[in-house]
Amino acid sequence: MEQLTLPENFFFGAAMSGPQTEGGWNVGGKLENLWDTWSMEDIESFYNRVGSYVGNDFMRRYKEDLELLKGLGLNSYRTSIQWSRLLDEDGNINPEGAAWYHELFRASKEAGIEVFVNLYHFDMPTYLFRRGGWQNREVCEAYANYAYKAFCEFGKEIRYWFTFNEPIVEPENRYWHPIWYPQHHSFQEACEVQYNISIAHALAVANYHRAVAEGHMLDDARIGMICNFSPSYTKEDPSEADLEALRMNDGLTNRWWLDLVTKGELPQDVIATLQELGIKLPIRPYDDQVLSSGVVDWIGCNYYQPCRVQAPSRNRDEWGNPLFAEPYVWPERVMNESRGWEIYPKGIYDFGMKCRDEYPDLEWFVSENGIGIEREYLNKDPETQQVQDDYRVDFVRDHLSWIARAINDGAHCVGYHYWGLIDNWSWSNAYKNRYGFIEVDLMENYDRRPKKSAAWLKQVATTHVIA
Ligand code: FCB
Repeated sequence: MEQLTLPENFFFGAAMSGPQTEGGWNVGGKLENLWDTWSMEDIESFYNRVGSYVGNDFMRRYKEDLELLKGLGLNSYRTSIQWSRLLDEDGNINPEGAAWYHELFRASKEAGIEVFVNLYHFDMPTYLFRRGGWQNREVCEAYANYAYKAFCEFGKEIRYWFTFNEPIVEPENRYWHPIWYPQHHSFQEACEVQYNISIAHALAVANYHRAVAEGHMLDDARIGMICNFSPSYTKEDPSEADLEALRMNDGLTNRWWLDLVTKGELPQDVIATLQELGIKLPIRPYDDQVLSSGVVDWIGCNYYQPCRVQAPSRNRDEWGNPLFAEPYVWPERVMNESRGWEIYPKGIYDFGMKCRDEYPDLEWFVSENGIGIEREYLNKDPETQQVQDDYRVDFVRDHLSWIARAINDGAHCVGYHYWGLIDNWSWSNAYKNRYGFIEVDLMENYDRRPKKSAAWLKQVATTHVIA
């Protein structure tokens, strides 16, 4: 059997976010973010009525969790700073919020684990949302100020910085499709938000360089962005219209960000199509100069599923939004039925090859990958009460194998972070789907318990052999 290994200096770790783990939503001067507000206004929208308040109790248990990470042989993890915790309403540092992150980074260092810090994980402070959120250019400026304050505050503690996690998701889930608060269904608004997030990213990268020039950062610091790149595919024998669906789907979700972070510009063919459709982007004079600051040192790729599309059967949806593509159901697809996501490990290899060929200087790592399973407690061993999750081992092994093959074939992939190493709260799905190698027992005070797969993970993390 083919024996695959990962490079020695590979980042092998875990991914998480502030709003999904920390808890303490209203302590120490933390302001409300949109998740807190939505939880209070409409708890029925959350699975089992579990709102954002407790996360997975990380603020109280971080030392124990860092021990767990270390015990599994992981060398790094990513989390996010919550804007609503770090700054007050005037955009100044909230000392109690800053103290928590200083303590977390100190404890991580003591545990010998490198922290990657992301600045925004779908967690708009509510007072800024009330001023228009990402539809308001001033909020982009406020974000750039927040980023600068974070760089100055933690620049000597944190080496690896990221501006955004999955910047496409808020335009899609909040504005285009009525999934998350405020549940609008306007493609026009989604495009405004997508454009303004791109501006916010570029402004933050410019401020990063300013912080470097002013001596606030470590000498080997790096800045990046994390995106959910879903390699796009269409039918094997595509028509012209299928290829057009592919162009716009890939253009809006993948190329938009890849061009921004490698060239400091947005894909002109996509912008042209939007304009032909009458979409008005909030472009200001000299924005091309602003966007040119958006180039980063490396990127993270969150990979869960491929995206398969075909030509749409109609041009507009019931709200009058343009339709570029329709899902294409590949006859051979394998599904994770809990999440409704296709499992296609080779997609990560294809992404690696695309980067190698089209963005040859771009270094990247897998910043999220994982499998969430509903009612996982049904898989417990009746005697030991341990979750028997062999499917998780299969899932991760298959993905790691394709990553190793991609590296062998020239991909610049430098790491792998598993999403949800310790079960955590997932937006409106709350605790429905469990991702962890470590179970969180909601009935027992959020106690942590390794699942069966944890022993396997430790072996791979410590040997880098994909067994
Ligand atoms: C990704 C998000 C992350 C988590 C996983 C399951 O899209 O970045 O916060 O919820 O999905």
